[in-house]
Amino acid sequence: MPEKIRITITVNDVLHDVLVEPRMLLVDFLRESLELPGTHVGCEQGVCGACTVLVDGGATRSCLVFAAQLDGATVRTVESLASPDGTLHPIQRAFPENHGLQCGFCTPGMLMATCELLEHSPAPEPGEVTEALGGNLCRCTGYQNILRSVGAASRMLAAEAGTPTLPVSTGASA
Ligand code: FES
Ligand code: FES
Repeated sequence: MPEKIRITITVNDVLHDVLVEPRMLLVDFLRESLELPGTHVGCEQGVCGACTVLVDGGATRSCLVFAAQLDGATVRTVESLASPDGTLHPIQRAFPENHGLQCGFCTPGMLMATCELLEHSPAPEPGEVTEALGGNLCRCTGYQNILRSVGAASRMLAAEAGTPTLPVSTGASA
């Protein structure tokens, strides 16, 4: 049995000082060790994007990273989006309101990819949206409603911040 590795890692604003198996994937660490099942496991090969979380602010496929690699890192999962009182984040509201999900399997990854995009580019061009979400696969929606959802989330966030923004076109395809 390989020796466990001690890491400190901040997940959703909580600091954890833990021992992890050297080959434990980040997605398994999140779901099993921290009991955060919001991050979904799809292909386990870095293809589908269902497991996307933010590592130090960047969208990352958690099935491709070992937890042991993340000593000192900050991770945000889909569970971090809602407020402690349960109020949904604008991105979480925008998707169902715009039919951006059906079965919901891809949704946690879509939400976190959208989160990274809008944090870096609050009023993205259509091409930026397709580039940011193009690696996240959805078998249900045909993508158009996901693109609408991202545009709606952008406008909702701008409205909350009191910042005028140009509407994101919904005509592009992913
Ligand atoms: S489960 Fe990680 S990319 Fe598909
Ligand atoms: S909503 Fe079903 S896979 Fe995207």
